Amino acid sequence: MTAGCWPAGLRIPGQTGTTNDGSGTIGLLDGKKALITGSRRGIGAAIALKFAAEGADVGLNDVVRDAEADKTMAGVAGLGRKFSWHQADIGNTDQRARMFDEFLEAHGRIDILVNNAVDSRDVPFLEVDEAFWDHLVGHGLKGYVFASQRAAKEMIAQGGGGKIVSISSVHSYRAWPHDSVYGIVKAGLNRMAKSLALDLSGTGINVNCVAPGYIDSRVLPLSEEPNRGGAGYADEAMEWIPSRRGGLPVDIANAVLFLSSSMADYVNGETLLVDGGLLTGGTPS
Ligand SMILES: NC(=O)c1ccc[n+]([C@@H]2O[C@H](COP(=O)([O-])OP(=O)(O)OC[C@H]3O[C@@H](n4cnc5c(N)ncnc54)[C@H](O)[C@@H]3O)[C@@H](O)[C@H]2O)c1
Repeated sequence: MTAGCWPAGLRIPGQTGTTNDGSGTIGLLDGKKALITGSRRGIGAAIALKFAAEGADVGLNDVVRDAEADKTMAGVAGLGRKFSWHQADIGNTDQRARMFDEFLEAHGRIDILVNNAVDSRDVPFLEVDEAFWDHLVGHGLKGYVFASQRAAKEMIAQGGGGKIVSISSVHSYRAWPHDSVYGIVKAGLNRMAKSLALDLSGTGINVNCVAPGYIDSRVLPLSEEPNRGGAGYADEAMEWIPSRRGGLPVDIANAVLFLSSSMADYVNGETLLVDGGLLTGGTPS
């Protein structure tokens, strides 16, 4: 999602105090410095806007710089927060290091890392090749692990404290057709949160995941499935979603905000499912 996709001040039916433009905010992240990967659009952009609305300065990263990225940056700037842009492939060691170096130069410290970037598509297991595995695992799991390690080192060097949140998926809990590599990657993130929470014990750094359900946000450039993305993405699953609507990027941003704030100081090593109840019962095949 970009700043221009939803009307300013959008309120989600049945929710209070949650808008996409900063109205109804309470400064949960005042003065924090947050780096969000894959944030030119979609869920990452919603997180950047939410964080800025709650008082954080944000670093936006993406492998692509385009009009959507510019809109997201304009949205953050419009909320009166400092922002920085870091074009980098988080699966590339040198580019990832440069992203952190640039972010630290711009902001002086890092309080929050949100691992969000992904570039995936459905591939039947028998057609999975090593190139696809290396691509998805390389940024979606290895990239998240080493970005978390760098962020944790910086947070410790700053004196400790911080939040690391990774975007997992309902696919981490159960299989859908042709999601083997994506599901393995996302399940790995849930487990990563547990190990990092334990190994970073005593540093004041909390490591958690958010696992979204169907979120009407994405247009997958590599996908050959035209129905995957945009409004209506969740339609096929509506009868299995107790909340009776598809998720919005702001729903995920709200959960990430919680885990990135002091409200979640005692939540560590956890994965928070945000799926409107999709996984409570039967789900589409
Ligand atoms: N949309 C959903 O229904 C849904 C459901 C469950 C989980 N998720 C997760 O939420 C996160 C965001 O998904 P989205 O729907 O907003 O996707 P999206 O495709 O709209 O956004 C992902 C962004 O990541 C960027 N990106 C891809 N590879 C990158 C790399 N190597 N380095 C830096 N940036 C890179 C892309 O350019 C894109 O802008 C992902 O981790 C995804 O797995 C989404």
